[in-house]
Amino acid sequence: MSITMSTPHPGRFDKGLADTIAAESAMSYIDGANGVLEYVGLEIDTLARNSTFEEVVYLLWHQKLPTRSQLDGFEEDIRAEHDLPQAIWDMMSSLPASAVPMHALRTLVSALSLYDPEADDQSPASNQRKATRLLAKTPVLIANFDRHRNGKDFVKPDPSLGIATGFLTMLNGKKPTKTMAQALDVCLILHADHGFNASTFAALVTISTLSDIYSAVTTAIGTLKGPLHGGANQAVMRMLDEIGDVSKVEAYITDKLRRKEKVMGFGHRVYKAYDPRAAYLKTFAGQLAHDTGNQTLYEKSEAIDKLMHERVASKGIHPNVDFYSATTYYSIGLAVDLFTPIFVMSRIAGWVGHCIEYLTSNKLMRPRCEYVGPHNQQYMPIEKR
Ligand code: CMC
Repeated sequence: MSITMSTPHPGRFDKGLADTIAAESAMSYIDGANGVLEYVGLEIDTLARNSTFEEVVYLLWHQKLPTRSQLDGFEEDIRAEHDLPQAIWDMMSSLPASAVPMHALRTLVSALSLYDPEADDQSPASNQRKATRLLAKTPVLIANFDRHRNGKDFVKPDPSLGIATGFLTMLNGKKPTKTMAQALDVCLILHADHGFNASTFAALVTISTLSDIYSAVTTAIGTLKGPLHGGANQAVMRMLDEIGDVSKVEAYITDKLRRKEKVMGFGHRVYKAYDPRAAYLKTFAGQLAHDTGNQTLYEKSEAIDKLMHERVASKGIHPNVDFYSATTYYSIGLAVDLFTPIFVMSRIAGWVGHCIEYLTSNKLMRPRCEYVGPHNQQYMPIEKR
C-alpha cells in the first residue's frame, strides 16, 4: 500500500522565531541595533526619570499619558483591587514555606481566577477590570508569601500607598525610605514592557485561543521563570556570589567563555547594542550601592562588564536589563529569589496590555514545525518489535 508523502509546507523555517513578526503592537518599540526602547514613542530614560510606574502602566494600556484626573482615577481603581479574597489568604497560609516564590506566585495567580466571577468574561471592559485586579493583587501575593515563608504574620495592603511603596511596606512591615521606594519604582518602569519577549508571546498564544486573562498570565509567569529570560536576574546574583572577591572576576569569566557557557545578564535576542535599560540601571545601581554600603558588589559587576566588553562586545554581547538589576534589588534589600517575582510585578503590565490589544483583532497563534522524522514505516506488532 502506498502512503502519500506529506508535501513540504511553503512556510519559512525560523528557529526560535528570531526573525518572525507575529503581530502588530502600539505599546513598545525596540531598535536593537541602536539600543533604543520607547513605550508609545517615549524614550525609556525619559520615563524612568520623570514618571511613576502607575503612570507608565496607564500609558501602555491607553497609548497616551494620563491627565492628573485620569491618573488619580486609575490609582483609585488599583487601590480598590489590592485586597485578596479570604480563600486566597487561607491558601497562601497553607503553602509550604520551602516553596520557590515563582512557583507559589504562579499557583496563587492561577487560583485568583477561582474567586473571580468574571474570570471567563472576554468583553473588553471585563478584561480591563481583570488587568487592574491582577496588577493590584500581584504585589500583595509576592510580599505576603515572603512573610508567610519567614513565619511572619500577613500585612494587609494599605490602600493609601502606591504600588512600589505599598509592596515594600508589606514585605518589611514598615514604610520604606523615599530612596528605596523610588529605586523599586524605577525598576518597575524599566521592566514593564518589551515587545514580544518570550513570556509576552506565551501569554498571547494562550489568549489567542480565547482562553482567559488569568490563564494567559499564569502561562507567562511560568515562561518568565527560566534563566534565559526573567530568571537571569537571580542567576546574576548567584554568579556574583560564586565569584567571591573582585580579584577572581578575570579567572571566572575567562573560564566561562572558554567553556562556551553563558555569562548571565549578558546578551539579548534583539539588542546587539547596549540595552538602554542596562545603561540606565548601571548608573542607578552604582549610586544605590554606594548609598547602601554595597560598593564591592557594584565594583564586581563593573569589573565583569568591563571584561565582557573587551572579550565579546564585538559579537554584539552587552549587559541586558537583568545584569544591573541584580545589584539594584540586592541594594534595596530584597531576597534573591524575589528578584524574578518583582519582574512579574512589573511585566504583568505588558502581558495584560498585549493580550487586550491582541484580542481587538484576534487570530489563533499556531505555527508549524518542520517534520524531520521517517515516512512509510511498517507497523510492527508489539510482540515482534
Ligand atoms: N555569555 C556568553 N556568550 C553569549 C551570551 C552570554 N550571556 N549570550 C550569547 N552568547 C553567544 C553565544 O554563545 C553564541 O555564540 P556563538 O555564535 O559563538 O555560538 C552567540 O552569542 C549567540 O547566542 P545565542 O544564545 O544563540 O543567542 P540568542 O539570541 O538565542 O540568545 C539570550 C539570547 C538572552 C538567550 C542569550 O544571550 C543568553 O542566554 N544570555 C544569558 C541569559 C540572560 O541574561 N537572559 C536575560 C535576557 S534579557 C531579559 C529577559 O528577557 O528577561
